[in-house]
Amino acid sequence: MNLVLRSDKICKRVIVENTNTEILKSVDLEIFQDEFVAIMGASGSGKSTLLGILAGVDSEYEGNVNVLGKDIKDLDDDQLTQFRNKNIGIIFQAFNLLPDINIIENVKVPLYFSNNKLSGNEKAKELLRMVGLEGKEKLFPRQLSGGEQQRVAIARALVNSPSVVFADEPTGALDKVNGEMIIKLLKEGREKKNMTIVMVTHDYSLATQADRTICIEDGKIINKKE
Ligand SMILES: Nc1ncnc2c1ncn2[C@@H]1O[C@H](COP(=O)(O)OP(=O)(O)O)[C@@H](O)[C@H]1O
Ligand SMILES: [Mg+2]
Repeated sequence: MNLVLRSDKICKRVIVENTNTEILKSVDLEIFQDEFVAIMGASGSGKSTLLGILAGVDSEYEGNVNVLGKDIKDLDDDQLTQFRNKNIGIIFQAFNLLPDINIIENVKVPLYFSNNKLSGNEKAKELLRMVGLEGKEKLFPRQLSGGEQQRVAIARALVNSPSVVFADEPTGALDKVNGEMIIKLLKEGREKKNMTIVMVTHDYSLATQADRTICIEDGKIINKKE
């Protein structure tokens, strides 16, 4: 199997009220192509911090992250932004849709940083159809329910056909039915597009849907259940 993501002794320190606190403690991970991995841990255990580093959003850490064969520390800001837009899709817990543009434009946002602009409209439409929002392309985020907004966020994360998708508690703000739909969509994306999925969750029943669970406690990986 191809290695897609490797982290080597990631440490993250923050200073809070003059005290140096280590919120990630030497995290080593390996994630392979087409895997659906859940990173599970209690609130405050360091999941979002870890995901931000793996996804190349947070560059303030010690250790190494290799994504698709590239040490992302070697990239400057522009190169990193480009690399991320081309290869990585990110789904946040709080959707992070842009409120002032309609949803098809929201889905197309990552395309502004890539060369795929021409085919963008068709692609965005196809993705909105795939997530069950056909006919709603012109609506604005505020006109959609929470579950629908999260589905737009998933379409946006997939529009560039990323190799790796990172999702931070993507169902956290949703009811059970919508939550299950989001997981189903992620799995479909993986089957159709050979994506690797790394999903953070504190919900055991969600983690059981993944191929593999990595548990984090107090900033440390505590076990790797196969
Ligand atoms: N920038 C920061 N400054 C200080 N503390 C932080 C910062 N980011 C995260 N933390 C702390 O690190 C711990 C892990 O945070 P986080 O990764 O958000 O946890 P999780 O996503 O598992 O709930 C928490 O105790 C949080 O308060
Ligand atoms: Mg979190």
